[in-house]
Amino acid sequence: MSRVAVLKGGISSEREVSLLSGAAVSKALTELGHEVLDVDMGPEVVEQLAGLRGRVDAAFIVLHGRLGEDGTVQGLLELLGIPYTGSGVMASAVAMDKLMTKRILEAESIPVAEDVAVSAAEIAGSGLAKVASGVALDLGFPCMVKPNCEGSTVGASKASNIEELEKAVVEGLEYDDLLLIERYIEGREMTVGLLGEGPLVLPVLEVVASKGLYDYECKYTKGMTEYIVPAAIDDRLAGELGRLSLRAHHALGCEGFSRVDFMLDEAGGYYCLEVNTIPGMTELSLIPKAAAAAGYSFTQVVEMILATASLKIDRGKGC
Ligand SMILES: Nc1ncnc2c1ncn2[C@@H]1O[C@H](COP(=O)(O)OP(=O)(O)O)[C@@H](O)[C@H]1O
Ligand SMILES: [Mg+2]
Repeated sequence: MSRVAVLKGGISSEREVSLLSGAAVSKALTELGHEVLDVDMGPEVVEQLAGLRGRVDAAFIVLHGRLGEDGTVQGLLELLGIPYTGSGVMASAVAMDKLMTKRILEAESIPVAEDVAVSAAEIAGSGLAKVASGVALDLGFPCMVKPNCEGSTVGASKASNIEELEKAVVEGLEYDDLLLIERYIEGREMTVGLLGEGPLVLPVLEVVASKGLYDYECKYTKGMTEYIVPAAIDDRLAGELGRLSLRAHHALGCEGFSRVDFMLDEAGGYYCLEVNTIPGMTELSLIPKAAAAAGYSFTQVVEMILATASLKIDRGKGC
């Protein structure tokens, strides 16, 4: 038995989801016999984490989005000397930045959708109309506009013409000063979970969102999305997605667990969208679902993640 702090909530747009994930993880940790300290992370993060020093053996981080999943909390835990689950500072920060992630994936020859980055400064300088027509020329329609550092499809939308593109850009800029605009991949959506030491590559899971786009509502409303695991794809493709996911996990330096999202197009092409370093952890979330298909219970998933809790920065060298 150990004393484990479950860090949940936070101040990002994904706070509500994190609270649900946190409750599920706490329950599983209690079942495993650990002494659980629930920490609802508010704006006083520094004080809250400092207060854990000496009181817990590990922190189980179930925060999604900025100032939680992005390396900041991980950095503070490193400084405090509190072992924590999941990826370290660098992998967390890179994975939160979709554009940076794609540049690393490209260097690893992992296919990604063609993209253009658009900043608020560029729009302020050149004007929305000029920037949008440049994007249309580069990528064509439809395209997908996403805030670079958001999750849960918050602030993201599909644009099929120049008016929609301008609207999507204005909306996206409410969430981030940098937008990632991608060629829209028409087709099927797959995700691959990586779990624990090793890590273990979970079966490919297909997401069939009733709205086409796997948006916030489809992600978190029961019955709005169908999940098929193992996905109905041939073994060769399933193996390829598994190998690419493992490569993406290692290329970014992820640890403990992660989930890699893909789109498949109708011509048989596949494109990696992003790597999630703290994916959803409710019992209905995708990693627990894929793990169940491989024979692991939710409690076992939590146990496997907890087993990887550590400080990732070596204190023995150069310190
Ligand atoms: N280039 C794209 N083509 C088609 N659909 C996309 C594309 N990019 C994202 N999507 C859709 O938007 C959802 C969210 O995008 P993603 O990049 O995974 O960001 P996040 O999950 O962090 O919000 C995906 O699950 C997918 O349904
Ligand atoms: Mg995603």
